[in-house]
This record gives sequence, structure tokens and C-alpha cells, in this order.
Amino acid sequence: MLVELTLIKYRLLTFLIELMTRLSVNINKIALIRNSRGSNYPDLVQVAMDCEEFGAQGITVHPRPDQRHIRYSDIPALKDVVSTEFNIEGYPSEDFLDLVIKNKPHQCTLVPDEPGALTSDCGWDTITHKEKLKIVIARLHDAGIRVSLFIDPIADRLHAAKETGTDRIEFYTGSFAQDYGDHKQDAVDPFRYAAKICHELELGINAGHDLNLENLSFFKANVPELLEVSIGHAIVCDALYFGLKNTIQMYLKALT
Ligand code: PXP
Repeated sequence: MLVELTLIKYRLLTFLIELMTRLSVNINKIALIRNSRGSNYPDLVQVAMDCEEFGAQGITVHPRPDQRHIRYSDIPALKDVVSTEFNIEGYPSEDFLDLVIKNKPHQCTLVPDEPGALTSDCGWDTITHKEKLKIVIARLHDAGIRVSLFIDPIADRLHAAKETGTDRIEFYTGSFAQDYGDHKQDAVDPFRYAAKICHELELGINAGHDLNLENLSFFKANVPELLEVSIGHAIVCDALYFGLKNTIQMYLKALT
């Protein structure tokens, strides 16, 4: 009887954890500050551990070809200390795939960034790139890594994403954030409809880009299926005023 009750409690707990939206903190901007002085200050590994201690449920890094923020050499040390979910995102070049497969994060988010892109500004055209993505995703799956595809909320592209074998998609929320000030319901509606399609296709839903304390709760309320958000720029900006611990707590609250 006691064993059964414990099992029920455990299942209920894992069910509730699956229902909540995880906050993954993107620490690229911290690396950018470190790199600006050429020393190891702030210490990225310490910041990642502190983010987790303050409540972050994941750490995201986005190494770019010019390594202007996260460097490839940062990844093994981060992998060793991140005790929540480690997510590496980026364009699937051979160098990037080698790095990811060697370090085996929990999740790899594939992004269609051109080398030198200032920041990610669109999702994959999964119709044009379906065959390439299929091959890359199979390699990542062989290494035991969950895959998410950065994507705009477009029905045809979601259907094609499903055919690539991806586990999840990450909605590119730049357009939502941009239009939020004018008419927030119109800004979020494409994502609400797209989330329904993802649900039918059994694709997990992540989201990221330009999410902040102003728009996050509204996005989550309209896309309740959201499994994870990865947020960098706004968290670092807010931390200047509120401190990192308070900021992370505020984002967690916005997701409840
Ligand atoms: N998701 C992806 C794929 C990104 O490229 C970025 C920016 O590096 C983010 C999420 C986070 O965006 P932001 O820094 O605007 O929170």
C-alpha cells in the first residue's frame, strides 16, 4: 500500500514537472562581457551554477563560428557543471556537430544562422532543408541527444519539421515581441494556432527570442503547451537593475 502511494505521488510529481514551462537561461551575453576584457571575469561556469541555484531549470549556449561570445572551449567545463538541462543551439556546421556530439548536451537546438549573423532572426525553411535536417537529426539522435528546430509559426513548415524526425520545435518569437506593443492578441494568434498543429503532430514546443518580463506571461497564457523558453538578452538587461537572483525569480513567476 505504502509503495503504491509513493509510486502515485512520484507519477503525479513527474506529470506536474512535465506540465510546467522550464526557464533555460542563455548565458551568451555573460560570455560577451567576459571576452571584452580578455580575462575569466565573470566566470561563466560560476554564473551557470549560480543561475541554477537561483532557480533556472536549464542553461543555453549558442556558439557562433566567430566565437564572439561562447567559445567552443567553454563547452566541456559547462557540460561538467550544469545539473539541470544543458541546451546547445546553433547552425549545424561540421564543427558545431562535432562539438555537440562530443559533449552530449540534453538538447541541441538547430538554428539556420548564417555565419556572422548578429542574432538569429528567422526559423528554418524545413521544406527546402528537409533532407539535410533529416541527416543531421539522425546523427544527433544516434548520440542520444534530443533535437529542437528553430522555426516560425507556419503550418507547412511544422508539418515538414515533423518529417525531419525532430523531437521539438522552438518558436522564433521575434515577430511576437515586435508586434506585442501594437496588438498583443494578433501578435500571439499565429503561435496559438501553430501550437495546436504541434500538439496534433506530437511535437514538443519550446520558444525563444526577445521574450521579456513584459510579454512572457501573455505568451505562456496563450501557448500553455510550452515546455521551455530560452531567454538571454532581457535577463541580462533586467539583472542590471534587479540582480541576477531576483531577475531569474521574476521570470519563473511570469511562467507560472
Ligand atoms: N533562441 C535562439 C535560437 C537564439 O538564437 C536566441 C538568441 O541567441 C535565443 C533563443 C534567446 O534570445 P534572446 O537573447 O532575445 O532572449
